[in-house]
Amino acid sequence: MKKIAVFASGSGSNFQAIIDAVKESKLHAEISLLVCDKREAFCIERAGQAGIPQFVFTAKNYADKADYERAILRELEGLGVDFIVLAGYMRLIGTTLLRSYEGRIVNIHPSLLPAFPGKDAIGQALAAKVKVSGVTVHFVDEGMDTGPIIAQKAIEIDASETKESLQAKIHAIEHELYPTVLQNLLNAGGLS
Ligand code: GAR
Repeated sequence: MKKIAVFASGSGSNFQAIIDAVKESKLHAEISLLVCDKREAFCIERAGQAGIPQFVFTAKNYADKADYERAILRELEGLGVDFIVLAGYMRLIGTTLLRSYEGRIVNIHPSLLPAFPGKDAIGQALAAKVKVSGVTVHFVDEGMDTGPIIAQKAIEIDASETKESLQAKIHAIEHELYPTVLQNLLNAGGLS
Protein backbone atom coordinates (compact mmCIF):
# COMPACT_ATOMS: atom_id res chain seq x y z
CA MET A 1 0.00 0.00 0.00
CA LYS A 2 1.41 3.40 -1.02
CA LYS A 3 1.76 5.96 1.76
CA ILE A 4 0.55 9.49 1.23
CA ALA A 5 0.92 12.70 3.22
CA VAL A 6 -1.79 15.33 2.84
CA PHE A 7 -0.77 18.99 3.21
CA ALA A 8 -3.56 21.43 4.16
CA SER A 9 -3.95 24.91 5.63
CA GLY A 10 -7.69 25.26 6.18
CA SER A 11 -10.98 23.47 6.63
CA GLY A 12 -9.72 20.33 4.96
CA SER A 13 -12.90 19.25 3.19
CA ASN A 14 -10.74 17.74 0.43
CA PHE A 15 -8.65 16.01 3.10
CA GLN A 16 -11.92 14.61 4.49
CA ALA A 17 -12.95 13.38 1.03
CA ILE A 18 -9.63 11.52 0.80
CA ILE A 19 -10.08 10.06 4.31
CA ASP A 20 -13.59 8.90 3.35
CA ALA A 21 -12.42 7.43 0.03
CA VAL A 22 -9.78 5.39 1.86
CA LYS A 23 -12.38 4.20 4.41
CA GLU A 24 -14.74 3.22 1.60
CA SER A 25 -11.93 1.41 -0.24
CA LYS A 26 -12.28 3.73 -3.24
CA LEU A 27 -8.70 4.87 -2.71
CA HIS A 28 -6.14 2.20 -1.90
CA ALA A 29 -3.53 4.14 0.01
CA GLU A 30 -2.49 4.78 3.59
CA ILE A 31 -2.74 8.37 4.83
CA SER A 32 0.41 8.46 6.95
CA LEU A 33 0.48 12.12 7.89
CA LEU A 34 -1.30 15.47 7.80
CA VAL A 35 1.09 18.40 7.39
CA CYS A 36 -0.51 21.70 8.40
CA ASP A 37 0.90 25.22 8.72
CA LYS A 38 -2.00 26.73 10.71
CA ARG A 39 -2.47 25.72 14.34
CA GLU A 40 -6.18 26.68 14.35
CA ALA A 41 -7.10 24.93 11.07
CA PHE A 42 -10.06 22.53 11.14
CA CYS A 43 -8.14 19.94 9.11
CA ILE A 44 -6.22 19.15 12.34
CA GLU A 45 -9.49 18.21 14.03
CA ARG A 46 -10.34 15.96 11.07
CA ALA A 47 -6.96 14.21 11.34
CA GLY A 48 -7.52 13.70 15.09
CA GLN A 49 -10.95 12.16 14.48
CA ALA A 50 -9.52 9.81 11.85
CA GLY A 51 -6.49 8.88 13.97
CA ILE A 52 -4.04 10.29 11.43
CA PRO A 53 -0.68 11.58 12.77
CA GLN A 54 -0.09 15.30 12.31
CA PHE A 55 2.89 17.56 11.79
CA VAL A 56 1.72 21.09 12.57
CA PHE A 57 4.25 23.87 12.19
CA THR A 58 4.47 27.65 12.36
CA ALA A 59 6.59 28.95 9.50
CA LYS A 60 7.84 32.00 11.37
CA ASN A 61 9.43 29.79 14.03
CA TYR A 62 11.90 28.57 11.38
CA ALA A 63 14.76 30.49 9.78
CA ASP A 64 13.32 30.13 6.27
CA LYS A 65 11.36 27.84 3.91
CA ALA A 66 14.29 25.46 3.51
CA ASP A 67 14.47 25.12 7.29
CA TYR A 68 10.82 24.14 7.83
CA GLU A 69 10.79 21.97 4.71
CA ARG A 70 13.79 20.06 6.10
CA ALA A 71 11.70 19.43 9.24
CA ILE A 72 8.78 18.23 7.10
CA LEU A 73 11.11 16.05 5.03
CA ARG A 74 12.43 14.34 8.17
CA GLU A 75 8.84 13.43 9.11
CA LEU A 76 8.01 12.20 5.59
CA GLU A 77 11.14 10.10 5.30
CA GLY A 78 10.72 8.75 8.83
CA LEU A 79 7.28 7.45 7.88
CA GLY A 80 8.33 6.27 4.41
CA VAL A 81 5.84 8.54 2.65
CA ASP A 82 5.68 7.84 -1.09
CA PHE A 83 3.86 10.93 -2.27
CA ILE A 84 2.47 14.28 -1.25
CA VAL A 85 -1.11 15.44 -1.84
CA LEU A 86 -1.72 19.18 -1.50
CA ALA A 87 -5.30 19.91 -0.43
CA GLY A 88 -5.68 23.63 0.17
CA TYR A 89 -2.05 24.04 1.32
CA MET A 90 -1.51 27.75 0.79
CA ARG A 91 2.29 27.78 0.50
CA LEU A 92 4.60 27.31 -2.42
CA ILE A 93 6.57 24.09 -2.29
CA GLY A 94 10.29 24.88 -2.16
CA THR A 95 13.32 23.18 -3.61
CA THR A 96 13.95 21.13 -0.46
CA LEU A 97 10.73 19.13 -0.89
CA LEU A 98 10.78 19.28 -4.69
CA ARG A 99 14.24 17.74 -4.88
CA SER A 100 13.12 14.71 -2.89
CA TYR A 101 9.56 14.38 -4.19
CA GLU A 102 9.45 15.91 -7.70
CA GLY A 103 6.90 14.05 -9.84
CA ARG A 104 5.37 12.75 -6.62
CA ILE A 105 3.53 15.90 -5.50
CA VAL A 106 0.02 16.73 -6.72
CA ASN A 107 -2.24 19.73 -6.12
CA ILE A 108 -5.90 20.58 -6.62
CA HIS A 109 -6.93 24.07 -7.65
CA PRO A 110 -10.43 25.59 -7.98
CA SER A 111 -10.15 26.90 -11.56
CA LEU A 112 -9.36 25.67 -15.04
CA LEU A 113 -5.62 26.37 -14.95
CA PRO A 114 -3.76 28.22 -16.33
CA ALA A 115 -6.67 30.63 -15.69
CA PHE A 116 -6.87 32.15 -12.23
CA PRO A 117 -3.87 30.74 -10.35
CA GLY A 118 -3.08 31.77 -6.77
CA LYS A 119 -5.41 32.84 -4.01
CA ASP A 120 -9.19 33.23 -4.35
CA ALA A 121 -9.48 31.57 -7.75
CA ILE A 122 -13.27 31.46 -7.35
CA GLY A 123 -13.47 35.20 -6.67
CA GLN A 124 -11.13 35.83 -9.61
CA ALA A 125 -13.40 33.81 -11.95
CA LEU A 126 -16.51 35.70 -10.81
CA ALA A 127 -14.77 39.07 -11.16
CA ALA A 128 -13.71 38.15 -14.70
CA LYS A 129 -17.36 37.22 -15.47
CA VAL A 130 -16.33 33.98 -17.20
CA LYS A 131 -19.15 31.59 -18.08
CA VAL A 132 -17.17 28.43 -17.40
CA SER A 133 -14.72 27.60 -14.63
CA GLY A 134 -13.80 24.35 -12.91
CA VAL A 135 -11.21 22.30 -11.08
CA THR A 136 -7.69 21.23 -12.01
CA VAL A 137 -5.46 18.49 -10.57
CA HIS A 138 -1.81 18.89 -11.54
CA PHE A 139 1.71 17.86 -10.66
CA VAL A 140 3.55 20.46 -8.62
CA ASP A 141 6.64 22.31 -9.75
CA GLU A 142 8.28 25.44 -8.35
CA GLY A 143 5.58 27.78 -9.71
CA MET A 144 2.27 28.97 -8.29
CA ASP A 145 -0.38 26.45 -9.45
CA THR A 146 1.74 25.51 -12.47
CA GLY A 147 3.06 22.07 -13.41
CA PRO A 148 1.73 19.43 -15.80
CA ILE A 149 -2.07 19.11 -15.75
CA ILE A 150 -3.41 15.65 -14.88
CA ALA A 151 -7.18 16.20 -14.92
CA GLN A 152 -9.73 18.98 -15.27
CA LYS A 153 -13.46 19.25 -14.83
CA ALA A 154 -15.46 22.22 -16.09
CA ILE A 155 -18.55 23.79 -14.58
CA GLU A 156 -20.91 26.40 -16.00
CA ILE A 157 -21.34 29.60 -14.03
CA ASP A 158 -24.97 30.81 -13.82
CA ALA A 159 -25.83 34.50 -14.08
CA SER A 160 -27.15 34.32 -10.50
CA GLU A 161 -23.99 32.67 -9.11
CA THR A 162 -22.59 33.93 -5.81
CA LYS A 163 -19.19 33.14 -4.38
CA GLU A 164 -20.84 30.77 -1.90
CA SER A 165 -22.89 28.90 -4.52
CA LEU A 166 -19.92 28.52 -6.87
CA GLN A 167 -17.65 27.43 -4.02
CA ALA A 168 -20.18 24.75 -3.01
CA LYS A 169 -20.35 23.43 -6.60
CA ILE A 170 -16.57 23.46 -6.96
CA HIS A 171 -16.10 21.66 -3.65
CA ALA A 172 -18.57 18.96 -4.69
CA ILE A 173 -16.57 18.40 -7.89
CA GLU A 174 -13.26 18.41 -6.02
CA HIS A 175 -14.41 15.85 -3.46
CA GLU A 176 -15.36 13.44 -6.25
CA LEU A 177 -12.47 14.18 -8.61
CA TYR A 178 -9.46 14.21 -6.29
CA PRO A 179 -9.73 10.68 -4.81
CA THR A 180 -10.56 9.29 -8.28
CA VAL A 181 -7.55 10.95 -9.90
CA LEU A 182 -5.28 9.81 -7.06
CA GLN A 183 -6.42 6.21 -7.47
CA ASN A 184 -5.95 6.43 -11.26
CA LEU A 185 -2.42 7.72 -10.75
CA LEU A 186 -1.67 4.87 -8.35
CA ASN A 187 -3.10 2.35 -10.81
CA ALA A 188 -0.95 3.79 -13.60
CA GLY A 189 2.15 3.76 -11.41
CA GLY A 190 2.28 7.53 -11.99
CA LEU A 191 3.01 8.27 -8.38
CA SER A 192 5.49 5.53 -7.65
C1 GAR B 1 -9.90 23.96 -2.32
O1 GAR B 1 -10.96 24.50 -3.08
C2 GAR B 1 -8.64 23.89 -3.15
O2 GAR B 1 -8.88 23.66 -4.51
C3 GAR B 1 -8.04 25.25 -2.91
O3 GAR B 1 -8.26 25.49 -1.56
C4 GAR B 1 -9.51 24.90 -1.18
C5 GAR B 1 -9.31 24.16 0.12
O4 GAR B 1 -10.54 23.72 0.62
N1 GAR B 1 -6.66 25.28 -3.26
C6 GAR B 1 -6.07 26.34 -3.80
O5 GAR B 1 -6.62 27.40 -4.01
C7 GAR B 1 -4.60 26.12 -4.18
N2 GAR B 1 -4.07 27.22 -4.86
P1 GAR B 1 -10.60 22.60 1.76
O6 GAR B 1 -9.66 23.08 2.91
O7 GAR B 1 -12.03 22.60 2.21
O8 GAR B 1 -10.15 21.32 1.18
